[in-house]
Amino acid sequence: AANKTLLVLPGDGIGPEVMREVHRVIDWMDRRRSVTFRIEEGMVGGAAIDAVGSPCPDETVAKARSADAVLFGSVGGPKWDSLPFDQRPELGILRLRKDLGLFANLRPALVMEPLVEASSLKADIVRGVDIMVVRETVGGVYFGEPRGVETLPDGKRRGFDTDVYHEDEIARVARVAFDLARKRRNKVTSVEKANVMQSGRLWRAVVGEVQRAEYPDVELENMYADNCAMQLCSRPKQFDVILGSNLFGDVLSDLAAALTGSLGMLPSATLGAVDPTSGKRYALYEPIHGSAPDIAGRGIANPCAQILSFAMLLRWSFGMEEDAALVESAVEKVLAGGLRTADIMQPGMARVGTSVMGEAVVRELEKLSL
Ligand code: NAD
Ligand code: IPM
Ligand code: MN
Repeated sequence: AANKTLLVLPGDGIGPEVMREVHRVIDWMDRRRSVTFRIEEGMVGGAAIDAVGSPCPDETVAKARSADAVLFGSVGGPKWDSLPFDQRPELGILRLRKDLGLFANLRPALVMEPLVEASSLKADIVRGVDIMVVRETVGGVYFGEPRGVETLPDGKRRGFDTDVYHEDEIARVARVAFDLARKRRNKVTSVEKANVMQSGRLWRAVVGEVQRAEYPDVELENMYADNCAMQLCSRPKQFDVILGSNLFGDVLSDLAAALTGSLGMLPSATLGAVDPTSGKRYALYEPIHGSAPDIAGRGIANPCAQILSFAMLLRWSFGMEEDAALVESAVEKVLAGGLRTADIMQPGMARVGTSVMGEAVVRELEKLSL
């Protein structure tokens, strides 16, 4: 019987291409494991603009609320770039995060041994890197008011955004980071620009207060975001959990992805609060990459980030740790076997497309579960 409802939102560009490979994995799970999924499909991003005129139709939000978990592809593309700001495809993901209260985005940058040489950094710098970026996702400059572009009396334009954080928003995402650190290597590096930003000053103060009051056993280091970017390239192994605002977390997680070899490798989970009465926690899983318009439609995108996002879904929403680990091992085995999509191609390896990669993951799942 179908006992878990999954809302799948493929979106635009390579989104539907890499999502197809997750369906292979889901089909395999349905056949071989104890859980079966009821799959709902929904529209988001440019695809939803084209079909119904909105990047995040109410129906999609309603489906997301009633599902047990949401698996998101990617949105955006040149076709919709000239639309007015408040009608862009990217609003699809922003509205889902906001409406479902998904405030904590977990972005694990894990360097898999077979890809150590695929990174643009030296092997001995990246080997063994295992970082969890915790990014705040419903506040900060992404949503702060006022924002806009205005024309001044002299005819010149002025653009402005507001970076704003309430102390409760900082404290709740900090708790997510500290809780994770306790299960990992017990260290949180909190990043801001407390030297130039008022919201950054508050960020540093509140994270420190939470640590002293509730997590004295966890090591806390405060670091300016610019220095963190540099340290990620020069000494990434010092990091365990990195905690940052919506904007700094976005930028630093793309940077962390480069350590792992490619943006095409990094999954993420975006979690809300646990509802005290129902026990339900809204959650959405998405690769950190976008719709990759430069390679869309060519069947060459790396499906690993999307497949690994599904593994995170199994772990975080369904408590299926064993199955999650199985999917992660299958991906690593495929890479160890020498298959490579173009983004992680290395000398001597076999270059394959999106679907061959997906098929290979299912073959490894089959072998691992024998
Ligand atoms: P991008 O992440 O789409 O692509 C950046 C680079 O990485 C490109 O060269 C791309 O080819 C490569 N890349 C990304 N994913 C890959 C994969 N799975 N396999 C192989 N190569 C991959 O970022 P961008 O080009 O800055 O943005 C393109 C569009 O996507 C924009 O409209 C942007 O707003 C949107 N975007 C959406 C999301 C999302 O839906 N969550 C995230 C980031 C960007
Ligand atoms: C991401 C993306 C999104 C973000 C965009 C598409 C709104 O870059 O998920 O990392 O900035 O949050
Ligand atoms: Mn991003």
